[in-house]
Amino acid sequence: MILEMRNINKDYPMGRSKVHVLKNVNLNVREGEYIAIMGPSGSGKTTLMNLIGCLDVPTSGSYVLSGQEIAACNDNQLAEIRNKKIGFVFQSFHLLPKMNALDNVALPLLFGNVRKSERRARAAEALKTVGLEERMTFFPDQLSGGQCQRVAIARAIVGKPTLLLADEPTGALDSSSGKQVMELFEQLHEKGSTILMITHDANIAKHAKTVYHIFDGVLSGGDSGSE
Ligand SMILES: Nc1ncnc2c1ncn2[C@@H]1O[C@H](COP(=O)(O)OP(=O)(O)O)[C@@H](O)[C@H]1O
Ligand SMILES: [Mg+2]
Repeated sequence: MILEMRNINKDYPMGRSKVHVLKNVNLNVREGEYIAIMGPSGSGKTTLMNLIGCLDVPTSGSYVLSGQEIAACNDNQLAEIRNKKIGFVFQSFHLLPKMNALDNVALPLLFGNVRKSERRARAAEALKTVGLEERMTFFPDQLSGGQCQRVAIARAIVGKPTLLLADEPTGALDSSSGKQVMELFEQLHEKGSTILMITHDANIAKHAKTVYHIFDGVLSGGDSGSE
């Protein structure tokens, strides 16, 4: 098991009271799974993604990521776990505009203390995986939205993360670029990547092999989707 969440609750303080956002969430992810978590706006998707991605810690409950309890980690420990174990893909790409594709992709390895020549070789390899070997020296403003998202996916996989975590990965794309991103996820899944994506879109969620639903902070489902 790569990821085990047990009775996870998340509250946000609101003045003197609090908002109870996630309610007794349980989730298991095994190596190689391809999961979608689907839910409407305000249901708690981003809150859950922030916990899974070690950007935040739960108010109560246990979260074990590849054998390590996350709930008790401090900010420095969380940053290191994120760098080593999680590849993030965001709706709006989050590329650095003044860096070309190769340097954007190599960036996580810089924080991981990898040598420069190896950083460049691994970034080039990741760009090849996403079909952008011809665009390595292009800057984000010279690439289409779909190409930018593929650069972001290359950056997410370059460190060989335990988990690829995507928040509305096609939300900013036209339908044909969105389709390419879904094809790429399918290829990564076939090569063994563990993928968890969060979406409000049923047409995107159906690409995953297992679909969970979140509604008002309660997670349910885990029924097999297209398999
Ligand atoms: N920092 C915060 N402080 C207070 N309430 C928050 C905060 N972040 C999110 N919420 C509330 O938690 C609920 C879930 O938000 P969110 O996880 O962003 O949902 P989604 O991503 O599914 O749209 C919403 O009601 C939202 O208002
Ligand atoms: Mg959200």
